[in-house]
Amino acid sequence: MSSNDTALMEKIVSLCKRRGFVFPASEIYGGISNTYDYGPLGVELLRRVKNAWWNAMVLERSDIVGLDSAIIQNPKTWETSGHVSGFSDPMVDCKKCKARFRADKLDDSRCPERSSKKPTECGGELTEPRAFNLMFKTNIGAAESSSSVAYLRPETAQGIFLNFQNVLNSTRIKPPFGIAQIGKSFRNEITPGNFVFRTREFEQAEMEFFVPPAENDRWYEHWKTERFNWYVGLGIDPAKLRQREHDKDELAHYSTGTNDIEYLYPFGWGELEGVACRTDFDLKRHSEASGVDLRFFDPETKERYFPYVIEPAAGVNRAALTLLIDAFEEQDVEGEVRTVLHFHPQVAPITVGVFPLVKKEGMPEKAAEIERVLRRAHFSTFYDEKAAIGRRYRRQDEIGTPFCVTIDGDTMSQDIVTVRHRDSMKQDKVAVKELEAFLRDAIGSWKRA
Ligand code: GLY
Repeated sequence: MSSNDTALMEKIVSLCKRRGFVFPASEIYGGISNTYDYGPLGVELLRRVKNAWWNAMVLERSDIVGLDSAIIQNPKTWETSGHVSGFSDPMVDCKKCKARFRADKLDDSRCPERSSKKPTECGGELTEPRAFNLMFKTNIGAAESSSSVAYLRPETAQGIFLNFQNVLNSTRIKPPFGIAQIGKSFRNEITPGNFVFRTREFEQAEMEFFVPPAENDRWYEHWKTERFNWYVGLGIDPAKLRQREHDKDELAHYSTGTNDIEYLYPFGWGELEGVACRTDFDLKRHSEASGVDLRFFDPETKERYFPYVIEPAAGVNRAALTLLIDAFEEQDVEGEVRTVLHFHPQVAPITVGVFPLVKKEGMPEKAAEIERVLRRAHFSTFYDEKAAIGRRYRRQDEIGTPFCVTIDGDTMSQDIVTVRHRDSMKQDKVAVKELEAFLRDAIGSWKRA
């Protein structure tokens, strides 16, 4: 990272803490490495990312249904899926300081004792690489015996495969169709980092799309395009997005082809989402291991077969971080720095700031009344009567509020408010009775500047 890019990340981390997007976890006890909590604005941002995903993947389509499966499943799940034997990174230990590094990422690693040096540059010798499993182990019940070992899921996908027959039997759906799930997953990453980009506990939004094998390639293309466009639709700069096909040696153990949607982060290109061809790998293996036939029976063709699977797997936290980074701008406005998050109104934690121009002449009461009406109409609002109006606008700019409504003399005499736009800083006069429709229209027609 250049020093400029490091400075940008530092600004974003600091804004996140100061304004209540993201806090270091367990902070009063000195924190816990690479673990974060989401504050009042962060939780709203995450909710909007998840809602946008669920709307696009489930509610707006007739061929995808939802699921919420357990985090801890029968441990045979992970033996069968290949995660017990295959879900590992090659690790090396420094014989001098005992730090552990990913053998395939030594260039990105730093010696914990001398952060300017890469492993071995400090004079330490490395052990031979060994596989380190990324699953968190736990125990079920009181006894900590090997028979009580269970795992925190490292992906939500397996819960979908386990429920494939349940979903078929309880709905009239048939391939091509998908099952979508949002939920926490856990990976004991050795090299987490870059703020919330890679954390050990994270939220996934995954969809397994089951297709007749002959339709695999068509649907792979479909989902690569669809998912790329979803990020563009959320307002992310398309010039900072790209698609990258995995090399053969990068593929996960279950995949015959994966396409990463990548974003140009301040720390370089990084994966935002993977769209993977999982073939019939999982359904077949679970069928063999459980003895339950997980083939689909097509009553029309009388054919029984294992569908192939296309899997778009998004990271909710990573999507939120990407939105934050992509939206962040510092502008010079009349010799002062204006920090602004140009969020798409659909994901902005607060949609409308409501301000009385002054704290007298009935304006606070009128503003509170307008805020109540907007809240009841399901706008996310924030009422503020403190400080000069310019400062109040700036505080909303910094958290990405796209519109501010100011109640002034015109409101008291003619029922007209001022709507101030975050991106252009332009102001419109709008009749109170038309305010809701005006805001809905402005949200609907918002375009990235
Ligand atoms: N299911 C794919 C992933 O967890 O990355």
